[in-house]
Amino acid sequence: MAGIVPKRTLEEIRFRNDIIEVIGGVLTLKRAGGTFKALCPFHKEKTPSFTVNAQRQIFHCFGCGKGGDVFTFLQEHEGVDFMTAVRMLADRAGIRLEFEDGDPGERSEKDALFKIHTDIAEFYARCLAQMKAAQHARDYLQKRDLEGDIAKTFGVGYAPDRWDGAIQWARKHKVSLELMEKAGLILRRDQDDVSAGYYDRFRDRLMFPICDIQGRVIGFSGRALSDDVRGAKYINSPETPLFRKSRVLYALDKGRRAMVNKRESIICEGQIDVIRCHQAGFTTAVASQGTAFTEDHANILRRYVDGVVIVFDPDTAGENAAIKTAGIFLSGGLGVRVAALPEGEDPDSFIVKEGGEAFGEILEGATSVVDFQVGVLSRREDLSTDVGVMRAARDVLQTILRSPNSVQQARLMQAAAQHLNLPVAALQDELRHLVRRQRRPLHEEEQSADSPVESTEPPAFELALCEHLVHADEHPGVADLVEHHLPLSMLQDARCRAVAEAALKAAREETPVESLLRGTETQIEGLEAFAAGLMLTGSKVRSEEISPEMAVQDLLLRLWQRRLLAERDSIQRELRQTAEGAQRMSQITLDINSLKRWETGVDVIEIEMAEE
Ligand code: CTP
Ligand code: MN
Repeated sequence: MAGIVPKRTLEEIRFRNDIIEVIGGVLTLKRAGGTFKALCPFHKEKTPSFTVNAQRQIFHCFGCGKGGDVFTFLQEHEGVDFMTAVRMLADRAGIRLEFEDGDPGERSEKDALFKIHTDIAEFYARCLAQMKAAQHARDYLQKRDLEGDIAKTFGVGYAPDRWDGAIQWARKHKVSLELMEKAGLILRRDQDDVSAGYYDRFRDRLMFPICDIQGRVIGFSGRALSDDVRGAKYINSPETPLFRKSRVLYALDKGRRAMVNKRESIICEGQIDVIRCHQAGFTTAVASQGTAFTEDHANILRRYVDGVVIVFDPDTAGENAAIKTAGIFLSGGLGVRVAALPEGEDPDSFIVKEGGEAFGEILEGATSVVDFQVGVLSRREDLSTDVGVMRAARDVLQTILRSPNSVQQARLMQAAAQHLNLPVAALQDELRHLVRRQRRPLHEEEQSADSPVESTEPPAFELALCEHLVHADEHPGVADLVEHHLPLSMLQDARCRAVAEAALKAAREETPVESLLRGTETQIEGLEAFAAGLMLTGSKVRSEEISPEMAVQDLLLRLWQRRLLAERDSIQRELRQTAEGAQRMSQITLDINSLKRWETGVDVIEIEMAEE
């Protein structure tokens, strides 16, 4: 159903789906003056900063910065693309979608591929349920205790033991073999000679459909029915226009709702592990397709959870993979814990043997990635020698360095120091060495923009902003300005972030800032001293003639300029010259210009905040 929805149809859909009703249908909204408030579904919070404006028909979360219109909300909340959100809301309002190029003959190739996958998955499921020749497959499922509801939920099927099962199916359903090949379901007998014909990729295998986030089948993983079979234990669909392994997480479609509630996802190595977890009630479990996890995976998961708990096989390969995966998730901004299973077990076999409750305990006992890594290293290195400790320290620091979050880094450093029996200061020294060594070959720009490691002195703008904020009780406008025009995640320095957060909270609750900073849970080194310094020393920035409000506006403009400049740099570096990139580049250039004055800059800020 590709096509462009006419603008007036979009307007009609928007008009007939009141954002208050749509959001009110899934969140508890409380009226607060002209707006409505709720606990944000996109990040964890205790006091509502998620706001819906009925008049403007937009939402915005002042905590995590997410925002937009009713379409954006559905996209974010349901994890669907724009067109799907449009379709869902059109349905809701009883609007029939007429597409400008709705000719069924010209449906895009992707849609055709979706249909093939959906249909053949049903065919495989029927084969499993009904074929006489599938008795051994049914027996196998039963032996593994996977029959019944769980097999239905996951759409398990059986690919017949023939070279032309899928080919026959395609003939019957008038699907071209060329498309079947594109779908990865059949292969050419001879790469250079089409006339030589095709054969089935999946033969005599248990078929596990792999779904995208909306639950549409986009590929398959086929398991051999006996372990001594020639050929691989698992055969997977190749990369196709639908199936991008670096972005697909097995069972994400089934687990994402539970994830939003739990805020943590279970990461397994195998599909069967995932299915078993779901069967036992651990419905936040996902896996990759037997390939390594990627930054894309981390970014996708971050839409649903704050952290992950990794449960891999406890063998050497599994341990290495767990540490590598932990690094990827850390650098994707997620919290990471690692759970350890007894030797020889994977989540599937463990749950079958010991039950779900015992597995729950294993998950509960998951430790920080640093604990886990030190544990692994202590079995591989001799930690009673200096050399051994040094080597272990370096490995652990490499993991810690992956985290872009200085609070998380500080916590992990503390854990590492404790486990390695070293003073934190020694590790910090070593970390600085490592960073310097790794930096040298990089370009200069790496040093300034979004540096992952805390520099000792916070950026001047951030410092100045904090200085204004801790005195905000004298100038209430200041806190308001920051609250509405700056996601605090934009502050690079952890101490500044903590102080700003406390100051804004203090302003909201009309309590003194100091009381909030004392005994905060965040253990940022030197935070108290830093905050006290800001509050007590004579001001460097506040003695100017301009009003604090204007000074803060200026700082906000500069922070947003910095943000857009960094984005422009990264587009230049990474996206190279895509049309999208070029368009965004010129937009950014215009916006940076607008950010020179508050009058024009505030529009840019509001748009950016809504799009966050
Ligand atoms: N895998 C693969 N190709 C293989 C072997 C494994 O793609 N030849 C992937 C599959 O996604 C599999 C995962 O790696 O789910 C983990 O492999 P493994 O631990 O060997 O399998 P299990 O999940 O334990 O499967 P089973 O319990 O059926 O042996
Ligand atoms: Mn297994």
